[in-house]
Amino acid sequence: MTDILQQLEDRRDAARMGGGAKRVDAQHAKGKLTARERIELLLDEGSFEEYDMFVAHRCIDFGMQDNRPYGDGVVTGWGTINGRQVYVFSQDFTVLGGSVSATHAQKICKIMDMAMQNGAPVIGINDSGGARIQEGVDSLAGYGEVFQRNIEASGVIPQISVIMGPCAGGAVYSPAMTDFIFMVKDSSYMFVTGPDVVKTVTNEHVTAEELGGAGTHTKKSSVADAAFENDVEALAEVRRLVDFLPLNNQEKPPRRPFFDDVGRIEDSLDTLVPENPNMPYDMKELIHKIGDEGDFYEVQSEFAKNIVTGFIRLEGQTVGVVANQPMVLAGCLDIDSSRKAARFVRFCDAFEIPLLTLVDVPGFLPGTGQEYRGVIKHGAKLLFAYGEATVPKVTVITRKAYGGAYVVMSSKHLRGDITYAWPTSEVAVMGAKGATEILYRSELDDAEKIAARTAEYEDRFANPFVAAERGFIDEVIQPHSTRKRLCRAFAGLRGKQRKMPWKKHDNIPL
Ligand code: HXC
Repeated sequence: MTDILQQLEDRRDAARMGGGAKRVDAQHAKGKLTARERIELLLDEGSFEEYDMFVAHRCIDFGMQDNRPYGDGVVTGWGTINGRQVYVFSQDFTVLGGSVSATHAQKICKIMDMAMQNGAPVIGINDSGGARIQEGVDSLAGYGEVFQRNIEASGVIPQISVIMGPCAGGAVYSPAMTDFIFMVKDSSYMFVTGPDVVKTVTNEHVTAEELGGAGTHTKKSSVADAAFENDVEALAEVRRLVDFLPLNNQEKPPRRPFFDDVGRIEDSLDTLVPENPNMPYDMKELIHKIGDEGDFYEVQSEFAKNIVTGFIRLEGQTVGVVANQPMVLAGCLDIDSSRKAARFVRFCDAFEIPLLTLVDVPGFLPGTGQEYRGVIKHGAKLLFAYGEATVPKVTVITRKAYGGAYVVMSSKHLRGDITYAWPTSEVAVMGAKGATEILYRSELDDAEKIAARTAEYEDRFANPFVAAERGFIDEVIQPHSTRKRLCRAFAGLRGKQRKMPWKKHDNIPL
């Protein structure tokens, strides 16, 4: 009997060794942790329940029958993050380069199925040379099975991808279909075709880092949501993100203990908006001053900085924030910011996370660059996302809310539940200068007349009261009491029930 018990321990030790000391050292030398070290950091101490530790591939080509390591290059199971259940797979680059065989894919599928059945997020740690070359089409079929599960799980359980090594070719499409992608600077990359193929086909000379590193994907392509210095930081940030999210689409977002004063008054907000309407100010200051304990989890901070997206808590409950940022492009909407915000709004709506929208938007960015690339379709994504979102939607207009962009930014007309405006708001078709130049074109040579016309327009429209008279704004509020008003607003909406008409699915402009 003791022999059998010892045999089990020996087998477990062999599995835990991964690809052996030499390959583990090589992994460490690249500044990367092993698959198991990553899981240990991600999950609460001692909470990991591993499955399929002894799974081995069944390939007999290319001498593979003599190389059948336990686990087959991926560690799978579940555990907890601050006591809440998550499923995890972590590819082991030290075992056959973390390459994906039929059995490797089956292990991933098994925990995805369990996650769906039990209603808990899946976190995938990617570090893989891609399709197991020796297995050919069996490997491709395995990827296909994972893709299909990514699609079915989308909007049902949160899916988070952490890229901690290579992720190339068709393999990128599994993370691409998950809700969040985190990368590690200098040690991870994602691309559909690598630098060599790029050189052959397009004659471009580009490094892997330039083509698909963390900088590229967080700043240029927006494929990734955040980039971190190392594995440890990335995994700590995944834990922080999970704390904001519900475990599945049937749950309300988590409410955590909070220590902040619900009625906290922030006098500094009364002077946040500068006297000069053309001067910028930092919308993030407002976000930090509203949220519990000043905590803000920003998503896609390096991309389309003219719009800010992320999570705060009000009275302990997660709230998704979308905010125009006057510091960048005057807070204009454009293609990138519309796409970024639309995706975020849809994530929040899918997972019952209430939405707070902070508005200071002078309109859509003009120019051929925008029109030729389809700002009409991309802008419509954000409009569509807000209009179809049935979660509680509260809006605060701090300054400009002009034209179509006013309607898009979670206005009352798109079934926004509560719209507040600061006294500094200007809800109008456009700014005073632009309006007078159109209305009084024949007087343009007379500076005095035009100045008087502009002043008249400002008097009439550069305020929140015209909209408030019509009930498009529910209340004009003091900036210093914004947190208190928002806490009350969301508390009043906790029982909100609203449904869209039945349809197979909508046809959002993609
Ligand atoms: C089998 C692989 C492998 C693969 C790496 N290995 N990739 N084994 N299939 N795809 C093995 C290596 O043989 C080696 O084994 C070990 O993993 C480490 O690889 P190295 O090359 O020594 O490591 P490194 O120098 O760090 O280079 C990593 C790498 C390179 C850049 C990922 O290995 C590489 O280019 N691999 C091939 C990538 C590829 O073309 N994959 C197919 C992509 S297409 P030993 O025994 O020496 O430790 C694809 C399609 C998916 O994935 C389609 C989905 C629909």
